[in-house]
Amino acid sequence: MDRLVIRGGRRLKGEVQISGAKNAALPIMASTILSQGKHNIKDVPHLRDVMTMGKLLANLGAGFHIHNNETIIDCDRIKNFEAPYDLVKTMRASVLVLCPLVARFGRAKVSLPGGCAIGARPINLHLMGLEKMGAKIQLESGYVIAKATRLKGASIYFDTITVTGTENLMMAAVLAKGTTILENAAREPEVVDLANCLIKMGARINGAGSSVIEIEGVDELKPIANYSIIPDRIESGTFMAVAGITGGDLVLKNCIPEHLDAVIMKLKDAGVVFKETKKGLRVIGPEKLIARDAKTIPYPGFPTDMQAQFMAMMTVAKGTSIIKETVFENRFMHVAELKRMGADINIEGGTATVKGVERLKGAPVMATDLRASASLVVAALCAKGETIIHRIYHLDRGYERMDEKLRQIGADIERLTS
Ligand code: EPU
Repeated sequence: MDRLVIRGGRRLKGEVQISGAKNAALPIMASTILSQGKHNIKDVPHLRDVMTMGKLLANLGAGFHIHNNETIIDCDRIKNFEAPYDLVKTMRASVLVLCPLVARFGRAKVSLPGGCAIGARPINLHLMGLEKMGAKIQLESGYVIAKATRLKGASIYFDTITVTGTENLMMAAVLAKGTTILENAAREPEVVDLANCLIKMGARINGAGSSVIEIEGVDELKPIANYSIIPDRIESGTFMAVAGITGGDLVLKNCIPEHLDAVIMKLKDAGVVFKETKKGLRVIGPEKLIARDAKTIPYPGFPTDMQAQFMAMMTVAKGTSIIKETVFENRFMHVAELKRMGADINIEGGTATVKGVERLKGAPVMATDLRASASLVVAALCAKGETIIHRIYHLDRGYERMDEKLRQIGADIERLTS
């Protein structure tokens, strides 16, 4: 298993090219099931999760090729309708094939994802919506088996805002008979990106990006032709944290600042300076960060996917920061590891109290999930001495060539392969 060795303490400077968004690429890849033909998608990041989605599509009978910046998915020969446990257990987003399969082929057998490191993460709302659209759903030996002749439009209200739930049901509705209304829908930029791609395929969708989405079903869709995935806002946010904690000076190329309003406002309050330049967004870290509180909420609020990296910054800020996690019940796995590096953090329920210390010290630590790993990298970059981060396959799931990008801006970082 690969590990990263980071010797902290350098001010990082230079340009960083932000990759396409993982969480937009995954649903868009799943949406190819909705139409026969050859789909062509641009800016899909080269990541473990993308490869897992590719394997899943290939397992259904689709052709899947990545060539430079083009991802080609050929959906002419889909003949299997099952997402097996072995793939779903490595990536929960596999559940995104459920609705496209039922919408186009009238059936799907998808393994239930089960819990994961950050929480129980049920899919009850995906199933509730699909059932409302007329699908018959059975749960059998850990699998969801869904069948329908043709889905029909329905009014669906989400009790909890769910990103992949909104995406899955939007994909069910585009081929359904009649109109579907999704209320209390997720407003994340990745939901909007999927909607824009579906619209290019011929779908009729209004309101994506607001909490009410209206979809009028059509009889068929065209394959995706040269659709480019939006930049990864969480990768941008993570590099903002890198600049912030190292007192660095970075220019983020291919970053859409509007997707990060809440993060940018918070980091400005904490002393980070932002400047829009022709090349990209310039981010300058201060001599000493100032402690600020944060609370995670669905978009446009402060993202749960940035909580761990923000906490890493706060471990060395001046003052005390209260960080509340409200989206997932167990997303503090990074805390024990940050404490091994000398951080002063106390957790009570969903609230972490972080008292800034003068400096973190390098230590051997273990990555437990994707964003937790990112927070350990952020912390290690400013720590005194050497940090060894084990199990970085978590990081490779969601960050494209992160070690290489960090090395290019001056980090002392090495990947050890065993
Ligand atoms: N929830 C339910 N029932 C459902 C669905 C969700 O109770 O049927 C609950 C979840 O347990 C959670 C909350 O609703 O407490 C929000 O979960 P959501 O469904 O929005 O999460 P997700 O769609 O599974 C996506 C991202 C996550 C990101 C969350 C929140 C993808 C592939 N994943 O997950 O990304 O944290 O939205 O923004 O889009 C990551 O990239 O590291 C990551 C975990």
